Amino acid sequence: MAGQDLKALADRAATEIAAAADEAALEASRVRYLGRKEGALSEATKKLASLPPPERPAYGAAVNDAKIRIEKALEAREAALRDAALARELGQEREDLSLPPRRVRLGRLHPISQTMREVSRIFATLGFETVEGPEIEWDYYNFEALNIPPGHPAREKWQTLWISNPLGDDPSRPILGRTHTSPMQVRIMEERRPPIRVVIPGRCYRYEATDAIRESIFFQYEGLAIDEKLTMADLKGTLYAFARQVFGSDRKIRFRVDYFPFTEPSAEIAFDCFACEGKDPNCHVCGGDGWIEAAGCGMVHPDVLRRVGYDPTRYQGFAFGGGIERIAMLKTGAPDIRLFYQNDIRYLEQF
Ligand code: PHE
Repeated sequence: MAGQDLKALADRAATEIAAAADEAALEASRVRYLGRKEGALSEATKKLASLPPPERPAYGAAVNDAKIRIEKALEAREAALRDAALARELGQEREDLSLPPRRVRLGRLHPISQTMREVSRIFATLGFETVEGPEIEWDYYNFEALNIPPGHPAREKWQTLWISNPLGDDPSRPILGRTHTSPMQVRIMEERRPPIRVVIPGRCYRYEATDAIRESIFFQYEGLAIDEKLTMADLKGTLYAFARQVFGSDRKIRFRVDYFPFTEPSAEIAFDCFACEGKDPNCHVCGGDGWIEAAGCGMVHPDVLRRVGYDPTRYQGFAFGGGIERIAMLKTGAPDIRLFYQNDIRYLEQF
C-alpha cells in the first residue's frame, strides 16, 4: 500500500465508522482497521520493514496519520452513540408530577431521653453541671469505693451482670454493668477538687425479674455536691426545688431515714402525690399512699471522702440518686416501665 492508498483507506474507514448503527457495528470496524492480527493497518505496518530505508520515514508517517484519523473517528462515533442512547432513555421515562409525595415522618426523642434532658435542665438552673460516665464499670467504683467490700450484704441488693474482663480476665479487677450511677461520685471526686456540683444521668443494670416498675436495664440520675459548708439542709433544699420544677410549685417532700453504705446519714425522699395530693385512697399514681418514693440520698460518707484524698473535717457534701423511668412514668401516666423499651412506635410517639 502506498501513502495515497493509506489516505484512501482512512477516508473509507472514517465514512464507515460515522455510519455505524450501534456498538457492535463500531466494534467490527475497529477490528477491521485496527485489529492486531488482520486489521488493515497492521498489514500496512508489517510492510514497513520490507521497504528500502529511504522510503520508510514517509511511509511510517502515513501509517501513523491514518491510524490517528481512524481512532478519532471511532471515539467520536462512540460518544455520539452513547449520547443518543441516553437521550432515548430519558425520552421514555415519565415522571408523574401529580403523585402526592411520600410523607416524611419526623422522629422525636424517646420519652426517657426527654426526661433525662429535663432533669439535666432543672439541675442546671440549680448550678449543677451534667456529666456522663461508663456503663461498664470496675467492681471498685461500683462497690468497693462506696464502702461495699466483697461479701458485704448490700451486694445482694445490687446483683448485676458480670463481664469477662477484656484486659486479661484479671479476677482481682472484675467488671460489671454498673448497678447505679453512684460510682460516678467517686470518679468525679478523683478527677476534681471541691467545690463540685454535678448531675449524672445514665443507664444502669441489675439482675432483676422484670415487672411493671422494674427492668434489668434502666436509667438513673445521680447528684453530687461537695463544698466546705454543705449540710443536710442544702440537700433538702436542692431536692425540694427539683421536685417543684418537675411536678409543680405546690409539691411537698418527705424525708425518711434509710440506709446506704456510702452516705451517712442516709435518707429516702418522697414527693407528695401531684395527682391526688393524698386525698384519693384509690389514686392510680400513688396507690392511695399520698407519697411517691423518688430517690435515695444522704451526706457523703467520710470514708468515701478519705478514699479519694479529701479531708472530711474540711469538706462535706451530699449525694442523691433516683430513677429516670419513675419520673417519666409519673409525668406521662405510663402504667408499665416495659412500655418504654418495647419500641412500639404507637406508644412512643404519644410523647
Ligand atoms: N445509688 C443508690 C441506689 O441506686 C441511690 C443513692 C444515691 C443513695 C446517692 C444515696 C446517695 O439505690
